Amino acid sequence: MRIAVPAENLSVETRVAVTPETIKKLAALGAEVVVQTGAGAASGIPDADFEAAGAKIAGGLSEAVAGAQVVLAVRRPAAADLAGAAPCAAVIAIMDPYGQDEALAQFAQAGLSTFAMEFMPRITRAQVMDVLSSQANLAGYRAVIDSASEYGRALPMMMTAAGTVPAAKIFIMGVGVAGLQAIATARRLGAIVTATDVRPATKEQVESLGAKFLAVEDEEFAQAQTAGGYAKEMSKEYQAKQAALTAAHIAKQDIVITTALIPGRPAPKLITAEMVHSMRPGSVIVDLAVERGGNCELAAPGQTFVTDNGVKIVGHLNVPGRLAATASSLYARNLLAFMETLVNKETKSFAPNWDDELVKATLLTRDGAVVHPNFQKA
Ligand code: NAI
Repeated sequence: MRIAVPAENLSVETRVAVTPETIKKLAALGAEVVVQTGAGAASGIPDADFEAAGAKIAGGLSEAVAGAQVVLAVRRPAAADLAGAAPCAAVIAIMDPYGQDEALAQFAQAGLSTFAMEFMPRITRAQVMDVLSSQANLAGYRAVIDSASEYGRALPMMMTAAGTVPAAKIFIMGVGVAGLQAIATARRLGAIVTATDVRPATKEQVESLGAKFLAVEDEEFAQAQTAGGYAKEMSKEYQAKQAALTAAHIAKQDIVITTALIPGRPAPKLITAEMVHSMRPGSVIVDLAVERGGNCELAAPGQTFVTDNGVKIVGHLNVPGRLAATASSLYARNLLAFMETLVNKETKSFAPNWDDELVKATLLTRDGAVVHPNFQKA
């Protein structure tokens, strides 16, 4: 069984799909791993480290994928680039498939089996394969670090001979995986932390981390969590009440970090231009939802800028990739755990059980067709 790891094709992508640790474990599953030269460079992994772990290094993309049964990647590769792979090869990556009908059709036409890691069900057995969690946790941490470095003051309260420095006030909007880590990180750095979410379950989580919870706790709030554990899109009335409650609070914050998302919908707009203008000069907003439309009306993907009233708005792309080495090590372990379920340990061959719920949930294309239920034409 040959596994290919191409270098990522977007410059913003600093992560890599394997590490020396996972290469050794993939070899134990019976795989020969071929890594394209330089694939680990942005994660601090030189070719020599991959080689020392038992991988072969390929000079270019076509050499890397030649004859591969499995292609492991961070982002969706182009089907055309995988032409040299074995017939019916599998591609496992964060596929970002919505709105990509053309790309899915090309994978199907090429006869490739493609798996979207972000569709992994959030069940106990698959927690170790949950890329959304492994990466969002790091994004939440990094958002606080980025905000601290952009903020011109200290975060913790300091009592010094020259006087007392007050603790910074940090407000976290959206308390999923990223938000919880942001709260924990901000608390560790000594800030005074408040947080909001629309799911009632988050109240206790926020308080258990030593932060204060702030939300419109009405009937709609009581129903806001779906069976899958995600948020629903809230009504216009709820959004107006939420904005009224948070507006006065945001005006008093030094740093606001937004992480709010709704599956399959644009990110909810939580910070209006007016709210930004109510903040003091030197305040910082980090919008982690910027790639999904943004929680802050003024945030722009890939840009950090200062507003005319002196508020810094940070909209980094690929925030987990700003901790590339850690993000790669966790992502590579997520992939390894999934691979372990796809390999027949006796024959040491790639042999997915097509009826396994993990396979059914993640499989986008197979045998020339787009098979995932979310992408069936009505
Ligand atoms: P997400 O990335 O989809 O959304 C982030 C947060 O934004 C969520 O907490 C959501 O409620 C919140 N949000 C949405 N609209 C909002 C609004 N208008 N105002 C304020 N906040 C808003 O969420 P993530 O991080 O994927 O977590 C979703 C759920 O999945 C959580 O309950 C989490 O605990 C659960 N989970 C379960 C796992 C498992 O069972 N294996 C693994 C990871 C997460």
